[in-house]
Amino acid sequence: GRHLVKPDDFTVEEISSILKLGMQIKSNPERYINVCEGKLLATLFYEPSTRTRLSFESAMNRLGGRIIGFSDPTASSTSKGESLEDTITTVSQYVDIIAMRHPLSGVANHASAICKKPFINAGDGNNQHPTQTLTDLLTIKANRGSLDNLKIGMCGDLKYGRTVHSLAKAMSRYKNIEFVFISPEELNMPEFVKEEIKDTKYSETTCLEDAIVDLDILYMTRVQKERFDDPDEYERLKDVYRLDTEKMSLAREDMLVLHPLPRVNEISVEVDKDPRAKYFEQAQYGMYVRMALIMKLLGL
Ligand code: CP
Repeated sequence: GRHLVKPDDFTVEEISSILKLGMQIKSNPERYINVCEGKLLATLFYEPSTRTRLSFESAMNRLGGRIIGFSDPTASSTSKGESLEDTITTVSQYVDIIAMRHPLSGVANHASAICKKPFINAGDGNNQHPTQTLTDLLTIKANRGSLDNLKIGMCGDLKYGRTVHSLAKAMSRYKNIEFVFISPEELNMPEFVKEEIKDTKYSETTCLEDAIVDLDILYMTRVQKERFDDPDEYERLKDVYRLDTEKMSLAREDMLVLHPLPRVNEISVEVDKDPRAKYFEQAQYGMYVRMALIMKLLGL
């Protein structure tokens, strides 16, 4: 079957059709309540999640399908020493489609290679998060009308943040895109991402106040505590950026603020009331785009 492990597993045209379907489902959800009748989705989550798992599960339920899975891997036979390969081989015989989150980078690619059913990477370590990217693209498209001609600031933990790795790669395929990577030096965008987007214009800065003034989109990220080897380094870097109303006053009237969530302190709650803050709307688009993705991968 088809898999989604990294954003460019789909062509730009395929992504466009998924986003279009996501919008159609959002505007007329009643039409889709039976399309996955008799189909089963497994959600295998080896790492904590609120949005990704629950939006996948609500997506499948809203399409008339059903779900099985685990969000506590210690309750699965993984804790008895079963390999990921054997887990995937087994579960793929029970279900029609699998979504898996795992703390190890690259494991999603490996799992998809042995999975006989459509396999979705729901986040692998500090590597990729392609369904978050579909969510981000739909949010941008719905609010701006187009994915071309955008200056996109990505701010925070660009080193360990898999959402920005996938989003940069995906956005680099559109026309007239410019990135501004805003991070402390310790958390700069990794070389493997820069290599993938080398034909797209980008700059790097440590200063959010300077960068914010002419952005179309500001994509904030959490400092990924769980990825740090040194807890002292996390403590030192965790509050390096905080988007508040004062900084928002420097930004354009039509800038969009996105964040994959969860947030810790990097966006002040007072910003939630600003009409430019789209991160909760973004979480809702995540459900509709996953409905569209499930339909696409099941050939429905
Ligand atoms: N955005 C995102 O992946 O959120 P969760 O970790 O809550 O799934």
